[in-house]
Amino acid sequence: SRTVRRDADGLVTVGGLDVKTLAEEFGTPAYFLDEDDFRARCRAWREAFGTGADVYYAGKAFLSRAVVRWLTEEGLNLDVCSGGELATALDAGMPAERIALHGNNKSTEEITRAVEAGVGRIVLDSFQEIVRVAHIAQRLGKQQRVQIRVTVGVEAHTHEFIATAHEDQKFGIALAGGQAAEAVRRALTLDSLELTGIHSHIGSQIFDMAGFEVSARRVVQLLTEVRDEHGVELPEIDLGGGLGIAYTSDDDPREPHEIAKALGEIVTKECEAAGLRVPRLSVEPGRAIVGPTAFTLYEVGTVKELEGLRTYVSVDGGMSDNIRTALYDAEYTVALVSRTSDAEPMLSRVVGKHCESGDIIVRDAFLPSDVAPGDLLAVPATGAYCRSMASNYNHALRPPVVAVAGGAGRVIVRRETEEDLLRLDVG
Ligand code: LLP
Repeated sequence: SRTVRRDADGLVTVGGLDVKTLAEEFGTPAYFLDEDDFRARCRAWREAFGTGADVYYAGKAFLSRAVVRWLTEEGLNLDVCSGGELATALDAGMPAERIALHGNNKSTEEITRAVEAGVGRIVLDSFQEIVRVAHIAQRLGKQQRVQIRVTVGVEAHTHEFIATAHEDQKFGIALAGGQAAEAVRRALTLDSLELTGIHSHIGSQIFDMAGFEVSARRVVQLLTEVRDEHGVELPEIDLGGGLGIAYTSDDDPREPHEIAKALGEIVTKECEAAGLRVPRLSVEPGRAIVGPTAFTLYEVGTVKELEGLRTYVSVDGGMSDNIRTALYDAEYTVALVSRTSDAEPMLSRVVGKHCESGDIIVRDAFLPSDVAPGDLLAVPATGAYCRSMASNYNHALRPPVVAVAGGAGRVIVRRETEEDLLRLDVG
């Protein structure tokens, strides 16, 4: 986060507030989100893409009413992928025309709510859904703007991409075998749909632009086929999200302006070669906007030194507030932030308080050997897919999200209570 500082005593401040004060006021574990940093990242994406393109923040990374208001104010659009995300967006006043609805199995209720609200875009993910959305729109007497999500045969994973003949996963409609062309054909025959473009999302935590280039090229190829077959030039392309962030110093993320330049150039070049009008581009970054803006603050409870192995440092949260290490082998760093220490670094594993040995937050970390109960540890870059994937495993109470700005912390998602848990238990 851009406004995190460490003073001479090793005490970390964020947005002008020190972590001890934050821990006293808001408790631990808690996520602290730097609002100024979030807004600055939104602006960087908007400015990089300019007025000729749209930036849809992917709400799955982290969504709350405050986030929706910041996005609205900073001129971003919003990608939602469930009724819950849609409800949050509408409740917090995001204009419906700036919302896109995603998902590989949207329910009839979700589609109906989206069409009724007047969302700007529904991204169609299957042949059944083309018909389903068309019927719902027709029943409501509306014409719904839609895109078709295609799978371009590029599988992107962290640092590299692997081009595959066919993608063995659940999303989208394959370009291969003429499936996507057939989907376009069907969508164009339905009066209650206005097909505006093609969507492609290739993966997540990607650093290499090559996968996006292949994706853009193949999407433009489809637009060319559509023009040749139907005499229609679809006016939009969405290249999805997936831009990586730095979790450790090994990660080297691209800046928004580099991404915008690379994508803009490739789309323009391919369209010019095909004699197509350059479509309006949109992208859907989630992690790249919110990921770096937050850290999780934990308090150490126990320290267990295993001779010749490592030291297990247990904190007051765990896989219920950050599942990413257990689920994806994700790498995080950790720092002692409540004081300075000259003690020797020791090989540590930061673990949670859940009832399984896979409950790991940071697999390998060097922490000062005098780390002790009561110390505060911060795990940076937890803004994306941590609170949004948090669970109540072991009836853990999900931590709050505190927005820090203007020298004050403000709870934007409050800590769960035992009452919250018991309220749902009506047996
Ligand atoms: N657009 C679509 C259609 C997506 O499916 C996703 C992410 C995004 C945009 C945003 O991707 P981002 O820019 O945030 O990488 N839970 C995983 C990540 C799953 C991403 C799913 N889709 C994680 O914690 O790494």
